[in-house]
Amino acid sequence: MAVEILDALARQGFEEVIALHDPGSGLRAFLALHDTSAGPAFGGIRAWTYQREDEALRDCLRLARAMTAKCVMAGLPAGGGKVVLLDRPELDREGAYRHLGRAVERLGGRFYTGPDVGTGPRELGWLAAHTRFVTHPGEEGPGELAESTSAGVLAGMAAALRHLDGAERWGERRVIVQGLGEVGARLARSLVELGAEVHAAEVDSERAEALCGELGLVRIDPSRELEGECDVFAPCALSGILHDLSIARLRCRVVAGAANNVLANPAHGRRLHERGVLYVPDFLINAGALIRGARFHLEGEREDVARIGAQIGAGVTAVLERAAAEGVPPVEVALREAEARLAARRSRGREGAPR
Ligand code: NAI
Repeated sequence: MAVEILDALARQGFEEVIALHDPGSGLRAFLALHDTSAGPAFGGIRAWTYQREDEALRDCLRLARAMTAKCVMAGLPAGGGKVVLLDRPELDREGAYRHLGRAVERLGGRFYTGPDVGTGPRELGWLAAHTRFVTHPGEEGPGELAESTSAGVLAGMAAALRHLDGAERWGERRVIVQGLGEVGARLARSLVELGAEVHAAEVDSERAEALCGELGLVRIDPSRELEGECDVFAPCALSGILHDLSIARLRCRVVAGAANNVLANPAHGRRLHERGVLYVPDFLINAGALIRGARFHLEGEREDVARIGAQIGAGVTAVLERAAAEGVPPVEVALREAEARLAARRSRGREGAPR
């Protein structure tokens, strides 16, 4: 088993994976550092009820690698990391997060952590009591994380529409947003302000009713959003939603949203391409919060949200143009570019390292 783990780490270019166990709180977690060749690794803490330990480890590695891709494509002197915590009813959550905080502090700044699924302001507060290397939920932190993500998604969506039709023409567009959470609700509001017709699917029916009423959205059943006819489908809820079966149901021209790891696997980028759907790679378009958080921690600056949007829009345009010129899916171009930039960065690091 141990040898298989080490093989997987070597194949995927990982630096270090730490398995954490705290008998007091019942914490069981993996902390992965994929790349610190240009600066610290960034990645949130995902708390999830995994059926098996190897499933949690696999998720941790996949998410940490995606963070590296996000960092290199955003031009940040930083890399990817992640913590995956195996959530269980008997877990003492406060004790577990305090223990994690101490573990992150021991890394001395090689890893900065923050929110993710299952880790919100309360958990970040427990962590912040024990480590400096966490995106603080209070006023001392970078702030406006969901705003930054939403601005990036909107700019990436605009870039995709310009790429296809030469102009956004928001007033003629229908966008379906899946998930009206922190990012989805902001995105829906901005789209309505621009004049688009916005349809939304949200599983929390109280939230759906309140937001659809307030923003003037067309509410759709959360099992029907994939087959709705629209210009853009914006996944802002779950991972892994695009696979063989769901791709066949899509009736949109563009997929552009905030959710991480939207494709069940990268090969589904080609499937979308063959169906004539323009898929904007998630790790390009949803980097807004990372850019805001990383610049704050690394340079002490709160990057302007509009500038984050402009940066992401330009990055998306470049990848879409290259993909069109080569006739390949944009996700293949983006992954190749991320790999090349990472390899160059690591070899520069090796050249500069003392022997
Ligand atoms: P959130 O938890 O605030 O919102 C998610 C919303 O989706 C919730 O309202 C939930 O009820 C709804 N939902 C869950 N399953 C659904 C389904 N099957 N159909 C329709 N709605 C469903 O999360 P947040 O922060 O808005 O993030 C959205 C996605 O974007 C997540 O995948 C997250 O990992 C990703 N992301 C978020 C960033 C951020 O800055 N918050 C940054 C980068 C990625």
